[in-house]
Amino acid sequence: MVNLGTLVQYLALQGGPQQQQQQILSGDQFNMSLITETTYTLPSLPYAYDALEPHISSQIMTLHHDKHHQAYVDGLNAALKGLVAAVKANDLPAQIALQPRIRFHGGGHINHALFWANLAPAGSEETNADKVAGGLVSAIEGVWGSMEGFRKEFGAALVGIQGSGWGWLVKDGQTLKIVTTKDQDPIVGGEVPIFGVDMWEHAYYLQYLNVKAKYVENIWNVINWKTAEERFLGERDDVFEALRAALKF
Ligand SMILES: [Fe+2]
Repeated sequence: MVNLGTLVQYLALQGGPQQQQQQILSGDQFNMSLITETTYTLPSLPYAYDALEPHISSQIMTLHHDKHHQAYVDGLNAALKGLVAAVKANDLPAQIALQPRIRFHGGGHINHALFWANLAPAGSEETNADKVAGGLVSAIEGVWGSMEGFRKEFGAALVGIQGSGWGWLVKDGQTLKIVTTKDQDPIVGGEVPIFGVDMWEHAYYLQYLNVKAKYVENIWNVINWKTAEERFLGERDDVFEALRAALKF
């Protein structure tokens, strides 16, 4: 793993202070013998492909997980392989040229790994926010006045995304924020992703066609508030547990 720490740290540093980037990119900071190939694998869905019906169809879940997410994992592994070769060759231009691919495919892997875990079958205990997410619900009510007020604002942010992107509820220090990200840009700075909603067309179009607002309306039936509560109360590193589990040295 190029001695860069985790992928999350690496992606965070792409937008980080110039000094940190220079430390990472400076050849004399590396013990080249420590640089090894690493691969990520597709994490299994924590439920059946049809478990989120009728709100997200089995067909969408199958294609989304097995094809789209797999493609991000494959793209990330290929880019990281190239990065290892570029670092070993002290080819700084090649290392820089690979960064957009790592950001896109690495972000795609991070985002989808977080997304699967923050969904659950409708009607399950995990989707009952009042029962399983008392701390988070209180915090949301503190910021937006009510859960309904939060859902309204979050839904508007999702529907307002132009092109492909994601909507996230994040913990930023002691407060909560709604943020949207473009393409596969992940939440890898200081904010803690609580839950995200995939707003790429591949996430809904086969079922909802152009009626994006209906997908957004129905997503509330399958949000896993238990996972959201754990992310809200836990440490930032815990959020990326699935990502670490998908890492093979
Ligand atoms: Fe997706």
